[in-house]
Amino acid sequence: MNFQDMPKVELHTHLEGCAPPEFIRMLAKEKGLDLSGIFNADGTYAYRDFDHFLEVYEAACTTLQGPQDFYRLTKAVLEESASHGVVYQETFISPDFCGGGDLGAWREYLAAMEEAAAEADRDLGITLRGIVTVIRHFGPEAGKPAAHCGVETFGGFVRGFGMAGGEMVGRPADYSYLFDQAREAGMPLHCHAGEWGGPSMVQETLDHLKVDRIGHGIGAIDDPALVQRLADSGVTLEVCPGSNVFLGAVDSWESHPIQKLRDAGVKVTVSTDDPPFFGTTMTREYEMLNKTFGWTKPDFDEVNRTALAAAFCDDATRQTIA
Ligand code: HPA
Ligand code: ZN
Repeated sequence: MNFQDMPKVELHTHLEGCAPPEFIRMLAKEKGLDLSGIFNADGTYAYRDFDHFLEVYEAACTTLQGPQDFYRLTKAVLEESASHGVVYQETFISPDFCGGGDLGAWREYLAAMEEAAAEADRDLGITLRGIVTVIRHFGPEAGKPAAHCGVETFGGFVRGFGMAGGEMVGRPADYSYLFDQAREAGMPLHCHAGEWGGPSMVQETLDHLKVDRIGHGIGAIDDPALVQRLADSGVTLEVCPGSNVFLGAVDSWESHPIQKLRDAGVKVTVSTDDPPFFGTTMTREYEMLNKTFGWTKPDFDEVNRTALAAAFCDDATRQTIA
């Protein structure tokens, strides 16, 4: 089976986290930054665990210093995604890394990403949409300007609002006013939960943030009633198995709960998260799901239909992808 050419819908990527290490090294050189500490001898990103990953991620982001850098980043990311058969991708974008929450600057960064996305749509047949995320470990206060940027630029390229970053910082309720604002503005909602936090974090995220989609959500597997609640509610999980295995959120591909969640009727989709950080691609995710759980074309077709139905794009865009 040729998994690379299979058309794919990917809902969970972090734009800066898709930056190839060589791209970040090129920008570091241009800017005279010494980032040698964040790379292994073989050129891959170097970090010890999830918290250290977030530090290395933020260090890599210091090379991205203006809209033009995000234009180049978006182009490089979409070329790579398109080469793995991705036809529609959603990506988390953060005002914190794009002008520090200043609305005027944010608009300029967005315009640059949008320009690169429009070119990739035309030239490579891949459509990109953005989900504005606050960074949880920066705290609820820091989320206010970022959420404001999200609300003010909703529509067009920006399709939703959410939260990424260190999941064990605070509780979901601490961030509910940010999500309330975004919901009132009509934005579809995502939140990372249950990658590290277990069932209570998923439960509280549903209760307090009332999201449409959960990033990861795999911790729900330890609570059968919660799994049933996910299945009944139709909340879609953006599952990133390769990321979970690489970071040690699960022990192995064999023990990953994606199959059990799917069997229980939960809407599951497949994404890469931060592919070059986790040594993966969408092709590899499909290959591993085939090898581990025996998924074949009908399974991937179903997962892609689920993903497209849960995508935050408008219906006209959805129809052009289907
Ligand atoms: N998880 C949570 N926050 C993140 C990630 C991730 O994989 N990548 C960038 N921010
Ligand atoms: Zn993520």
